Amino acid sequence: MKLMEQIWNLARSNKKKIVLAEGEEERTLKACEKIISNKIADIVLVGDENIIREKASKLGVNLNGAEIENPQTSAKLSTYANEFYELRKKKGITPEKADKIVRDPIYFATMMVKLGDVDGLVSGAVHTTGDLLRPGLQIVKTAPGVSVVSSTFLMEVPNCDYGDKGVLLFADCAVNPLPDENQLASIAISTAETAKKLCGIDPKVAMLSFSTKGSAKHDLVDKVVNATKIAQKARPDLKIDGELQLDASIVESVASLKAPGSDVAGKANVLVFPDLQAGNIGYKLVQRFAKAQAIGPISQGFAKPINDLSRGCSFDDIVNVVAVTAVQAQG
Ligand code: ACO
Repeated sequence: MKLMEQIWNLARSNKKKIVLAEGEEERTLKACEKIISNKIADIVLVGDENIIREKASKLGVNLNGAEIENPQTSAKLSTYANEFYELRKKKGITPEKADKIVRDPIYFATMMVKLGDVDGLVSGAVHTTGDLLRPGLQIVKTAPGVSVVSSTFLMEVPNCDYGDKGVLLFADCAVNPLPDENQLASIAISTAETAKKLCGIDPKVAMLSFSTKGSAKHDLVDKVVNATKIAQKARPDLKIDGELQLDASIVESVASLKAPGSDVAGKANVLVFPDLQAGNIGYKLVQRFAKAQAIGPISQGFAKPINDLSRGCSFDDIVNVVAVTAVQAQG
């Protein structure tokens, strides 16, 4: 929890405005009250004001300070529809379709982010990952110089010396099913940047494989080797090494045998998995067996921050993801 306290304090130091697209949802309303009372961010709730106020009153939730935008009646609707039409007309969107699409709460909230009416978006307590990310990918797109939107989990492992005193970042565990070598390199660089920004740690990035420094030969290993070279060439200022097995990445004694001389092996605090199956299984193993706190998935690489929630999230999870999004929005 120390890590989250640090992120809350960072969010408070330069307060941002975050939109919650599922404004009629109960955990979202409880989270809204906690975010505002703890001065983590300013909040816009998307939804029908009558429904929101009625639910809040039943829950005993105080929404003082929150703004509410109804995508069906908002004064911003025509601006958002026009802008969405301009952005997507080459993809077959007509003005009529644009007007219908931006009334969807997630598209509406994504347009708020795109046009700078808010600094970031959090949603996904009800919607799937795809429902949330697709509008972001279509409208907000990637930050300059970033080829792919990806995700990371901040893992805080209790009683653990690996990584940065038990803090490690795992990527990509939620977005790209089968990244190619260029995408894998981009994921490594984005995750290193996230490690610096959110955790204040000096990133040491291990490109994970079932091989360490040529111990096995396979096309899958070649992909990781090539991704490592691409990332190292693009960002010589970062410590990135591979291909490395997990033990060689985090255990000094194994690293000294299998990857001597590496500035990452044995000390890695950022673990880049070769694909989504490995990443998703890997973070859940550590979360369950090591009882680690897994904060995320945190999206990275968007031009402006958009973050997904798990549908099983608690209202405290929403508060934490909003704090992360607010820090990402600080630029
Ligand atoms: N980065 C940047 N742009 C992208 C990316 C990406 N990773 N993926 C797609 N795009 C772009 C496309 O180029 C396209 O742009 P365009 O319309 O302007 O041409 C747009 O986004 C939409 O692309 P689609 O191919 O239609 O999007 P898709 O249907 O593939 O959805 C998504 C993308 C939702 C991220 C998909 O890859 C996905 O479902 N990933 C897995 C999510 C998941 O199920 N995760 C596991 C659960 S999460 C958990 O357990 C914590």
